[in-house]
Amino acid sequence: MTNSNNSHANQQDGAGWVYSDTVKEHFFNPKNLLQENPKNYKADGVGYVGSPACGDMMKIWIKVDKLTDTIAECKWQTFGCASAIASTSILSIMVTEKGGMALEDAMKITPQDIVNRLSGLPDKKIHCSVLGDKAIRAAINDYFRKSKQEHRIIKEKSEIICRCLDVTNTEIENAVLEGGKKFEDIQKRTKAGTGCGACRPRVERMIEQYKMQYYGE
Ligand code: FES
Repeated sequence: MTNSNNSHANQQDGAGWVYSDTVKEHFFNPKNLLQENPKNYKADGVGYVGSPACGDMMKIWIKVDKLTDTIAECKWQTFGCASAIASTSILSIMVTEKGGMALEDAMKITPQDIVNRLSGLPDKKIHCSVLGDKAIRAAINDYFRKSKQEHRIIKEKSEIICRCLDVTNTEIENAVLEGGKKFEDIQKRTKAGTGCGACRPRVERMIEQYKMQYYGE
């Protein structure tokens, strides 16, 4: 068994539930938390996402430097676990450091970028970092909407993969992020493939693709 396999095995049995020093630092001393009443904070854009599956909710407020088209301030509130709080905290730094990230670059932040800056997350907690990149995109899209730049809005791509049960690629992705590793796990969580079964080969390919993307397996 490789080190990587050992690491995953440890996380399965709970022995590998170790947070990096960066995660601990951002959980115990979160940066850019919005402490005041949100009604008194004049944001240019607000993004709000929630994951009913894990119960985490995240809200991000941004101020934009209109001259440079960069993020000048990023405040947030997160109702969730240590990983979700640390993910939002590090994200707020990533988008404001070095004079602020260009909006188009901030739109491209991936969960893996956030996990890398946190020096890793336990496998079962990777899904918490997914909320952060969705929330920042939602806040930027909100800014585009309010500033009449609708042509710059980028919608989350969602495609129906299982037509019988109306299950999308995003639901399959989330099920993998929440720890599903086999077709049967994903089927149990999403109901994909419980009708005619025609979608099964595609769902299985997607599971392998997401496992490689998020866990390097
Ligand atoms: S298309 Fe998925 S079960 Fe029929």
